[in-house]
Amino acid sequence: MFEQPKTSYLYYQTAMTRSFVDSAQGVYIWDNSGKKFLDGSSGAVICNLGHGDKRILEAINKQAESTFFTYRTQFENEPAHKLAELLVNSSANPYLNKVFYVSGGSEAVESAMKLARQYYYSRQEGRHMFISRSPGYHGATMGALSVTSYAPLENPFRPMMRPQPRIPAPYCYRCAYNLTYPGCELACAWALEKCILDYGQQNIIAFICEPITGASAGALVPPKDYYAIIRDICTRYDILLILDEVMTGYGRTGKLFAYEHWDLQADIIALSKGMSSGYFPLGATVAREDIVETVMQAGGFPHGHTNAGSPMSCAVGLRVLEIMLEEKLPENAMKMGKILGKGLKDLAGKYAFIGDVRGIGLLWALELVADSKTKETFEPRLEVGQLLTDLAYELGLIIYPRRCVNGRQGDHILIAPPLIINKDEIAELLGLLDETLNRAYARITYKT
Ligand SMILES: Cc1ncc(COP(=O)(O)O)c(C=O)c1O
Repeated sequence: MFEQPKTSYLYYQTAMTRSFVDSAQGVYIWDNSGKKFLDGSSGAVICNLGHGDKRILEAINKQAESTFFTYRTQFENEPAHKLAELLVNSSANPYLNKVFYVSGGSEAVESAMKLARQYYYSRQEGRHMFISRSPGYHGATMGALSVTSYAPLENPFRPMMRPQPRIPAPYCYRCAYNLTYPGCELACAWALEKCILDYGQQNIIAFICEPITGASAGALVPPKDYYAIIRDICTRYDILLILDEVMTGYGRTGKLFAYEHWDLQADIIALSKGMSSGYFPLGATVAREDIVETVMQAGGFPHGHTNAGSPMSCAVGLRVLEIMLEEKLPENAMKMGKILGKGLKDLAGKYAFIGDVRGIGLLWALELVADSKTKETFEPRLEVGQLLTDLAYELGLIIYPRRCVNGRQGDHILIAPPLIINKDEIAELLGLLDETLNRAYARITYKT
């Protein structure tokens, strides 16, 4: 058994270490001591297809027999074309029909932002601002970070980034206006119009958001009429709508893409995570043809990443999407999500420190509060989300903690298992979570 080395030559975000992985299959992962874990968060909400799918291994072997890598300016490759075709044809927005490959979520967002800027630059317009939502997460690279609202990730780099305008996320549990839906008349959506007017329409390139805010605030599903207002404002003021579907895409929310919940038409979408489900680094932006054409006619898109669109990454992406469609995994996510959601709500009835349960499909969050009446957050130093995550880990359950009040305070955990999960495995997940909450209950003080 490979032991934790006395000297590690690696470093991550923090000094925390975890056990060594041995193998993974379906919704389970085993460490090298033989301990079994139920992957309740699909890693970082990426392993939508589950672990160890032999069909992906076959696709990798088949592709490996011909070519792993060729560079896109030197050779075209068949998997890249086939994947783009299947992606466009299986989307509910087939007018989004121009695919640009990258290798991850931050690169996808970065590319979407640069394409959007390049579009207006090609039209000789000097627009240079993106409006985004707070809280929100769009990635770790500087462009994506400039539209991210999660204080601990942004703060050290603020002086290096151009400030970009923000509007409040549709966070009904902690409404920025202290209003309640529907009486609020969706003030948080109308904030976009005010923001455009404040900063000047001639300066704004696009509004970028996650259709359902994922990690940063925990599965915020906007009310049903929210996106009709957003779409209308973007159209009226001629600014682009960029949807970051890096986490929500590929079946995670019970539809192939989350925008389908609102029949929403974006101008550019950013994809990654479930797109290759962790079997190979892959991401993409998919844009309206006329946007790409405008840029091409003005001289091209001066942007790209070396590994993008390689034969192997696209062969993996193609097989993942084929399996996802054949096995109707978005539908399974919706069906299992209803069972999971009900189970989580039952747990909230049992543990008063669960202030809110929210989500859709297989993207759920529990928000934890020190006082369920006032919604007071736990003191950040108590690290309640991390405590729960560690207790769950001891029990063999993986969950994903974050701070919901702009990363500064508030605790929530994400529950987002692979989309192949079945009823028995959901029951097992809920049982392990119940025991986790029970152990946490004895360790934390809260008011009911
Ligand atoms: C919505 C969203 N956008 C972008 C990213 C960045 O993706 P990556 O970590 O692959 O760069 C993430 C990652 O969690 C995400 O959730």
